[in-house]
Amino acid sequence: MKFQKICVLGLGYIGLPTASTLAAHGFKVLGVDINPHVIETLQNGNVHIHEPGLRTVVESALNSGNLTVSSQPEEADAFLIAVPTPFYEDGYGEYDGRKFRLADMRAVTSATEAILPCLRKGNLVVLESTSPPRTTVDLVTPILERSGLKAGIDFFLCYSPERVLPLDMAVDIARGAIDKCRADGYRTTVAIIDAAGNLKLSARDDGTSPHTVEVARKKAYTALIYRRPSMDTAKAWATQVPPPSIEGTIALGGGFPIRAGDQVVGAIGVSGAPGQDKDEACANAGLAAVAARLK
Ligand SMILES: NC(=O)c1ccc[n+]([C@@H]2O[C@H](COP(=O)([O-])OP(=O)(O)OC[C@H]3O[C@@H](n4cnc5c(N)ncnc54)[C@H](O)[C@@H]3O)[C@@H](O)[C@H]2O)c1
Repeated sequence: MKFQKICVLGLGYIGLPTASTLAAHGFKVLGVDINPHVIETLQNGNVHIHEPGLRTVVESALNSGNLTVSSQPEEADAFLIAVPTPFYEDGYGEYDGRKFRLADMRAVTSATEAILPCLRKGNLVVLESTSPPRTTVDLVTPILERSGLKAGIDFFLCYSPERVLPLDMAVDIARGAIDKCRADGYRTTVAIIDAAGNLKLSARDDGTSPHTVEVARKKAYTALIYRRPSMDTAKAWATQVPPPSIEGTIALGGGFPIRAGDQVVGAIGVSGAPGQDKDEACANAGLAAVAARLK
């Protein structure tokens, strides 16, 4: 399959970096967004979202002529859908006796309908929005097959959800954790690592002991490696002599994996509060601060 032109629908935190990076690699990219402010801002050579390093990539993509933007898709070789899929505030469904929040799929529906008149034989359509199971089959396929083309035969269709821990989100998590600790009357250090275990940020509040920097990072690392709260690991090790620890891990509570949907995208560790349960409360407050974006 040879791609020359790619159409990216939804120019937000996921779609804009994707469109710009593809343009930087020589593809002709049409970025599409229904928000006129987004289109106008980009047409004026500005960037409407804040993400470290993004402005440089977007500017060079726009200046190269490889990235253009529009409110409407056009014929292309591939279409990437990166529109929002937020949870409804008070919409719930039930499965197996358990209650689940429902995702608002209207943007995916309208983006797919917008692709429909442009769809041609041999095209690739990729759903990148975080979506409930079967969305590609039950929602996207029937809309695209109204074209008379068959998915998997005449055009290709796949689901490839984005799973990233952007720096801005890491900053918001750290902010939420530090604010909670301060509100409870103590100062702590927060470490956030990415899915590969690399440090994303280390925020040491004023007056905390220097050792908390490394302890917070190790708590995060422990939560990442074992895919569970570091407290659970500490408890499991308490009965084993010697504890089966992996190098760089630590048997202390205050670390949690950061999950986007069912995938671990990083981990947080908090150190310095007078008690591991208090470190945990701060870490949880940090995760709660971005819960709506981590789904
Ligand atoms: N860490 C992760 O795994 C992760 C991170 C971010 C986003 N996501 C997922 O990626 C998707 C996009 O997220 P985002 O953060 O980029 O959202 P965003 O809100 O930053 O941007 C979405 C953009 O889509 C535009 N849009 C809405 N409806 C449209 C339509 N019908 N046609 C064209 N454009 C439309 C909006 O105007 C907006 O500019 C979501 O499903 C989100 O859950 C996953």
